[in-house]
Amino acid sequence: MKSEREQKLIEQAYAEVEKYETLVNRDRYRLRYHLMPPVGLMNDPNGLIDWHGTYHVFYQWMPFRTGHGAKFWGHYTSPDLVHWQAAPIALAPSEWYDKDGCYSGSAISCDGKLVLFYTGNVKDEQGNRQTYQCMAVSEDGIHFTKKGVVITLPDGYTAHFRDPKVWRYQGHWYMILGAQSESGDGKAVLFRSADLCHWEHLGPIAGGNMNGLGPFGYMWECPDLFPLDGQDVLIVCPQGLKPDGMRYQNVYQSGYFVGRFDYERAEFLHGTFEELDRGFEFYAPQTMLDRNGRRILIGWMGVPDQNEDRQPTVSHRWVHALTLPRELRLTGGKLRQTPVEELKQLRKQKVAYPSATVVNELRSWPGLEGDAIELRLDNIELFGSMMEIYFRHAARLVYNSDEGVLTLERKSFVNGLTEKRQCRLPRLRSLHVFLDTSSIELFVNDGEETFTARFFPHPDDQTIFFGAHGHLQMDIEKWEL
Ligand code: FRU
Repeated sequence: MKSEREQKLIEQAYAEVEKYETLVNRDRYRLRYHLMPPVGLMNDPNGLIDWHGTYHVFYQWMPFRTGHGAKFWGHYTSPDLVHWQAAPIALAPSEWYDKDGCYSGSAISCDGKLVLFYTGNVKDEQGNRQTYQCMAVSEDGIHFTKKGVVITLPDGYTAHFRDPKVWRYQGHWYMILGAQSESGDGKAVLFRSADLCHWEHLGPIAGGNMNGLGPFGYMWECPDLFPLDGQDVLIVCPQGLKPDGMRYQNVYQSGYFVGRFDYERAEFLHGTFEELDRGFEFYAPQTMLDRNGRRILIGWMGVPDQNEDRQPTVSHRWVHALTLPRELRLTGGKLRQTPVEELKQLRKQKVAYPSATVVNELRSWPGLEGDAIELRLDNIELFGSMMEIYFRHAARLVYNSDEGVLTLERKSFVNGLTEKRQCRLPRLRSLHVFLDTSSIELFVNDGEETFTARFFPHPDDQTIFFGAHGHLQMDIEKWEL
């Protein structure tokens, strides 16, 4: 059951969807196979869960404008991670404890119910922030009833304390939260519960000045702790890291630590921080364990920077999207991300050029163009200093084999100038590319590195060109999606 106030806000949001439907859908940058908001702004994926045979993805949603504010939880469901259906709005910011936003959180299954945990964001008249960790419950996975506050702010932290991720381990529930300590350090904080309603504060498990990390950002958002391939992985989004060579180029970062989590001592011993994605738009990812035991990650294909409202889609009253679902594996102490198998269902006509060569030229092949396509380049052999791919004259991927550096360039949607993101890569063996009308996701060497970005080519330009200094050979496969 929803309160009258929540019901009213939900009706207002639907009115907004209806009002702008035509304008939104007229946008040629609307994506064809990614999750997007029906109107307004979408940010973090929330509440990822495979529940009773259905995948659920909730998301941070501002229906009333293309900016941030008092967020709702939008909701999509899917039988297969490929075909998605919009479900009724799950949460609206209606109560005293969440009136300025039902902020990010997670979902679990308990006693046959789907239970959500989220952060109630509250600002008083002076603009001071308060934060409450809240619970909502559903019998059918579609209609949610708020149960109110389960955790208030513990001592030692500022009100930047949010984004509960909950899981079960040996008879207890655990919750990890993103936090800022009173001394101004980003931290990941752990709670434990037997009944989901009463939570014991176990303290921080990682963050500034713990574990030999030194200062590491002033706030950590969206933590996620899970076992993978025999180790434990903590994903976090630190705010306040300074750019460092090719690293930390976006306004906020999203990355992970690999280590071992000791439940008895509530201690996490971990290695260094590694970025999850090298592209321009990637933030606040969340993972779930699915029916097949896979660890699946979905990220926000956006970042909260000052240029969000300069994205061309804003004139059509919507902004941002989610990434494709990616399967995570841990190999050699590094996370590897690959698009889930199921995405093969999207494949339509195929074109293949085995042993294709490019020799000191810029060229194309018939049938390799498109604006919603999957492209695989395998067995890449470069005898030369450089290879490049131009995507629709608006993005360019360059591999410099002398320096061992991979670069993604795009035309900035703010000023039209070229901007770039890079990573070190000793060898380029394969590329797996998903292009949608205004997005690109690159999986390098079977997911060793990924680059995620929005880009806004002329809608009629569907060209793809390949270039090399020297001799390049590769097997090319391409599908219309
Ligand atoms: C991350 C974030 C979360 C917060 C949410 C609000 O992008 O700032 O920390 O819960 O977005 O929409």
